[in-house]
Amino acid sequence: MDGQRELHNAYLQAMGITRWVSRQAGEALADEPVCEKTAIASAGPAPDWAMLESQVAGCTRCRLHETRTQTVFGTGNRNADWLIIGEAPGADEDRAGEPFVGRAGMLLNEMLLAAGYRRDDVYIANIIKCRPPDNRNPRPDEVQSCQGYLQRQVELLQPRIILAVGKIAAHSLLGSTEPVGRLRGTQHYYGVKKIPLVVTYHPAYLLRSPMEKRKVWADLQFARRVFLSSSQVS
Ligand code: URA
Repeated sequence: MDGQRELHNAYLQAMGITRWVSRQAGEALADEPVCEKTAIASAGPAPDWAMLESQVAGCTRCRLHETRTQTVFGTGNRNADWLIIGEAPGADEDRAGEPFVGRAGMLLNEMLLAAGYRRDDVYIANIIKCRPPDNRNPRPDEVQSCQGYLQRQVELLQPRIILAVGKIAAHSLLGSTEPVGRLRGTQHYYGVKKIPLVVTYHPAYLLRSPMEKRKVWADLQFARRVFLSSSQVS
């Protein structure tokens, strides 16, 4: 299998598309049950940034598309070493079309400065691209529907470190159910490329519990050390 096809298949697998049918062959299988996960996607190579962004903008894979104002793809430097992953857009992000622009976003910017980065130096994305109504937590099926998009963003970005902020991001990226308090302070790895991943508290949690800011500061220093040591070995 050539590299492009392998990447394409990995993308389809991540999207939950377990059976690939070309448009021409599709009719022959018309009697077979086709669920969301075996939906026929458009043929072609794994999407580049522009194609992926437009796929996300038109996504109807879960019911969140019915209530969103717009999708929130991700923002920042597409050559960044650091990828920050949050949970889901809130009301401010749904309006602006950009992640972390509300109060939690202001605090995230401060957290990044503590690690020595400006917002524009890093790339920021969420586990899911549409706002869950009433700011409820994303549901497992919504996370699953969206995970191929984030996976492709990671492939395109090739970050040197991922900072997972909050429980939903940490659990979804690590497949863990441990509390953030137990996951922080350890170097984890994401995906087949084993990208170093560090967990910290969500800035929205810090707005409610400002005493925990000291722990986040320590987490960011730890993430910086992980990043520097992983940059030295490769
Ligand atoms: N919280 C998140 O996790 N992501 C956002 O984009 C905004 C708030």
